[in-house]
Amino acid sequence: MPGLEEARRLIAAAGNIFVLTGAGISAESGVPTFRDAMTGLWQQFDPEELASEDAYRRQPALVWEWYLHRRELVAAVHPNPAHHALVALAAQRPFTLVTQNVDGLHQRAGSAGVIELHGNLFANKWLDGCGRCNEATALPGMPPRCNLCGALMRPGVVWFGEDLPRVARYRAEHAAQHCDLCLVVGTSGLVYPAAGLPGLAREHGAPVIVVNPQPSALDQTADIVLSAAAGACLPLLWPPQPAPSAG
Ligand code: OAD
Repeated sequence: MPGLEEARRLIAAAGNIFVLTGAGISAESGVPTFRDAMTGLWQQFDPEELASEDAYRRQPALVWEWYLHRRELVAAVHPNPAHHALVALAAQRPFTLVTQNVDGLHQRAGSAGVIELHGNLFANKWLDGCGRCNEATALPGMPPRCNLCGALMRPGVVWFGEDLPRVARYRAEHAAQHCDLCLVVGTSGLVYPAAGLPGLAREHGAPVIVVNPQPSALDQTADIVLSAAAGACLPLLWPPQPAPSAG
């Protein structure tokens, strides 16, 4: 694979690695990426049209159902060798793992301290809550509503047009500015501010390695583009830890 040896050398020499992942890292687990065509019932919908507050206010039942469908889909799949490779890297040295994914697969693989820029699919929060919202009731086919004020429950993800969680964004930007190598895995690099993080790392002197089987908007920011699937590529990027010797 062109660039692999150079990437391995840079990673081995780096003291402080910043990893940014996107939907492509979960593709081999069976989670469709955002910009792949959706399947089945959802084929007719554009995720960008469902993932917004506007869409939720207009069609709460439809959008809630879409998130329930995604929760079921993600709950039924497993982390793949790319997620596991990042757990193995953490066993060798600390690094910062920032994800745009809401699927929780890094955490299920065993990664700790994951910075989730776009929230989590399995979390809920209130839309226009009264501040005392606690218990909710759901009528069939509808999202739950607060028993006190009737506020809608909504998924705890970042929708189009919304700000990123402030602490996650701050920590991600800080880590990008202070890393000495940036590894980008499985993102189209089209959605900001996340897509700006590799550029930020580069401005601060870090080389950037992109892993993606397709061209992406971040290729122009990269020093090395590894044109490969994450599950095949990541396990090759750092050698496995030798087993501890007995006695
Ligand atoms: P996209 O769906 O935009 O891009 C997925 C990328 O993964 C593409 O560049 C694919 O080529 C690449 N890819 C596919 N299979 C791969 C594999 N096996 N290994 C490595 N790469 C692979 O997903 P994101 O870039 O994550 O935001 O999308 C960014 C954000 O847009 C998402 O977090 C979401 C969405 O709107 C919010 O929900 C706020």
